[in-house]
Amino acid sequence: MAFNIAIDGPVGAGKSSVAEEVARRLGILHLDTGAMYRALGLTALRRGVDPALEEEVLGLCRSLHITVSHEADGQHTFVDGEDVTGLIRTPEVSMAASTVSRYDGVRKEMVRLQQRMAAETDMLVDGRDICTTVLPEATVKIFLTASAEKRAWRRFLEMREKGLPDSYEQVLEELKKRDDQDMNRKVEPLRRAEDAVLLDSSDLSFEEVVERVQAIAEEKRHG
Ligand code: DC
Repeated sequence: MAFNIAIDGPVGAGKSSVAEEVARRLGILHLDTGAMYRALGLTALRRGVDPALEEEVLGLCRSLHITVSHEADGQHTFVDGEDVTGLIRTPEVSMAASTVSRYDGVRKEMVRLQQRMAAETDMLVDGRDICTTVLPEATVKIFLTASAEKRAWRRFLEMREKGLPDSYEQVLEELKKRDDQDMNRKVEPLRRAEDAVLLDSSDLSFEEVVERVQAIAEEKRHG
């Protein structure tokens, strides 16, 4: 069986960057599952399919071939062979991804693809439902979180660096809205699996979080 690490957590907990670095240090692949929902959201927008229409989105999802590859510069995500990696990080696509990820049929398709990839290869998988649904038998399960204020502050600093004008209060409000949507949706809401290690990064640096996740993973891997 492949060695799998599952990491879940809310928006802005630092999952993706921590996951990328830990996977690099352990020499295993990192699967960013959010990118797959983003690829579907992008394709819906491009083809004029309203993300709010469940049946249409599900039909689209079933007709597409969403794949990923791992390159020196990280994960690339493809729709029917087209590399869409550079197109899936816009606010419009984030919103569309969030909407299409609410549908049960869509989630089943994505979970099936993710499970198939993780069964074959040692990998660290991050998302919202990895510990609970995608890989409940993963060797290592972690719920990475931080207070809403700390997560909003980090995001605010990131955005300021990119020259984006939102105030801290706006960022905090938006983040609380997304938390609410992710945690209260009907299908597989974000929640901590009972047996997942809770890691609160509120008062930890990036390096400290990476070291803790790595230590937990190595302990479980080598027993
Ligand atoms: O992690 P992210 O922001 O790239 O995720 C994009 C959207 O996809 C997000 O709104 C939540 C959803 N998502 C999900 O429902 N389940 C996952 N395993 C990963 C992401």
